[in-house]
Amino acid sequence: MGTVPCMDNGWTLVRWLHLGGVSVWLGGMIFLGAVVIPVVRAHGGLQASRALVTAVARRFGIIGGAAYLLILVTGFGLLDHRGISPSELPDSEYGRRVLIKLILLLLVGVVVLAHSWIQGPRLRRAEAAADDAATRRWKMVGGLMDGFMLLATLATLWLAASLVG
Ligand code: HEM
Repeated sequence: MGTVPCMDNGWTLVRWLHLGGVSVWLGGMIFLGAVVIPVVRAHGGLQASRALVTAVARRFGIIGGAAYLLILVTGFGLLDHRGISPSELPDSEYGRRVLIKLILLLLVGVVVLAHSWIQGPRLRRAEAAADDAATRRWKMVGGLMDGFMLLATLATLWLAASLVG
């Protein structure tokens, strides 16, 4: 009897979890930027709904953080399954692409932390103090951070799509 095509081995489950993590991470980011923020802007503006936006971002921080860790853990699992150790990553085209994926994901992680621990609180403080110049500056920094996170994740997805010819 042959194997059931959709349940061929445990690695299908690991790859499925990797792709699930990517869907939640990328999908959540696009949902926030393309749905939540524009809707809030159209209904009184971000400043008026700051508490709501902060609560939404914090909640996504938990879901997105779990997805981020899932991508990382399953990514290393898949690498092991391919018989490649992290120190061998620079030795092949496949490994170099995974290495760039890993570096981009780690950089995105650093930016997420800077977003929530530095830029977010400074923006809220500037808004509370009605400091228009600082508010503009921290908003711009936040926009650059969001853009970097989205582009780096999309670039990672491109690298993943090109991993196996
Ligand atoms: C946001 C970050 C990431 C995204 C968007 C992403 C996306 C993907 C996608 C779409 C695939 C399926 C490709 C395929 O099987 O054809 C994949 C597979 C894979 N990913 Fe990731 N990934 C990310 C992070 C990582 C990290 C950090 C690692 C390593 C630590 C990693 C290692 C792998 C490996 C080894 C495979 C298996 C490819 C194969 O079957 O040969 N990924 N990834």
